[in-house]
Amino acid sequence: MATFALIADPHVCVPNPQTGWVAVPIPNDPAFYHESVEVMEAVIDEINAVPDLDFVLVAGDLTRESEPYNHEMARELFTRFRVPVFCVSGNHDQPRPARLRPRKLLDPDVTPVTTPEIPTLYGDFGFRDSTLTAYSCDPTPDVHLVGLCSTKPDDDCGWISPEVLAWLDDDLARQRDPARETIVMLHHSIIEHVPGETVNPTFSWFHVENAQALKTLLRRHGVRLTFTGHLHIQDVKEEEGLYNIATASIASYPHAYRIMRLGNGGLEIRSRRLQAIPSCPDLQRVSRQRIADAFVNVIADLLGAAPFSYAPDRARETASKLRDWWPSIADGDEQFAYGADELGDAFLAAYANSFSDRPPADNDLSIDLSAR
Ligand SMILES: [Fe+2]
Ligand SMILES: [Fe+2]
Repeated sequence: MATFALIADPHVCVPNPQTGWVAVPIPNDPAFYHESVEVMEAVIDEINAVPDLDFVLVAGDLTRESEPYNHEMARELFTRFRVPVFCVSGNHDQPRPARLRPRKLLDPDVTPVTTPEIPTLYGDFGFRDSTLTAYSCDPTPDVHLVGLCSTKPDDDCGWISPEVLAWLDDDLARQRDPARETIVMLHHSIIEHVPGETVNPTFSWFHVENAQALKTLLRRHGVRLTFTGHLHIQDVKEEEGLYNIATASIASYPHAYRIMRLGNGGLEIRSRRLQAIPSCPDLQRVSRQRIADAFVNVIADLLGAAPFSYAPDRARETASKLRDWWPSIADGDEQFAYGADELGDAFLAAYANSFSDRPPADNDLSIDLSAR
């Protein structure tokens, strides 16, 4: 039996210790960047109190924008867990081109850490080979853990290089112990969590571009469990026996993390939410309001563009009726029943409702692994 915790997207962010530069707000980004250390300290305390804990997984987006001092802080925080920590990097852990992040939002005095530097920087947290942006290890007698840095260079979407795919093929071929379940952790999705994720440009940057190649390889080796972050939502999807368990950002609503128990022919997943941090005792309510406000703006912008092309007033009014839509998607286990009359647009109502969750459950579930 292995007991482990998973957190995703901590987005650690502190002032530049040399210059005092403080991260400027990113428009419509509801993450608690300035409180990210408080958030981590609170979740570390909760996870350290879990009995029989074997290890902790961190599914990428370790920092705000890959600032070296934020990586330094993330590594320091990881050392406070009482068990080994294994991490991967995310799209925020490499330099992002100006088209993805305007320069005025970035610390002008630092050079962001690049993905090839991650294995050296996080050698205490899973990485073994300084030249490989992937690793595997056996943290307990019943787990074979694989970590993959999945961000495409100069982009936000996912991509697994041919070299890493070849390494993974070889690694999984050598893992022949039938008592071990393989867990693969990466930042980007490999199964669609939202409708049209692989084709809709609003969402396709959440996905691994060459997910088919990766999934074919994983299936060939009998892998059933993959863990991801990046979407900042609680969602579990299954495709032909392969599970992709996406976990929300600990730094953003709903501030969820997972405690998992693997053994006796199954994986038990229980989700918890951070309820409070010292500077925000009412974290869930305040954070839900913040994400709702942000997404009213995002949805109004989308409704003002093709194919909706609403006038600004109508876009804003309709977006405010969808105020609970994205926060509910982030919660997981969401069901929608917007009416065409209510939104004044049958196509929009059908689209919003299409995000209703399908089985399996997103927060608390058991995955049967008894059949090989
Ligand atoms: Fe993130
Ligand atoms: Fe991300």
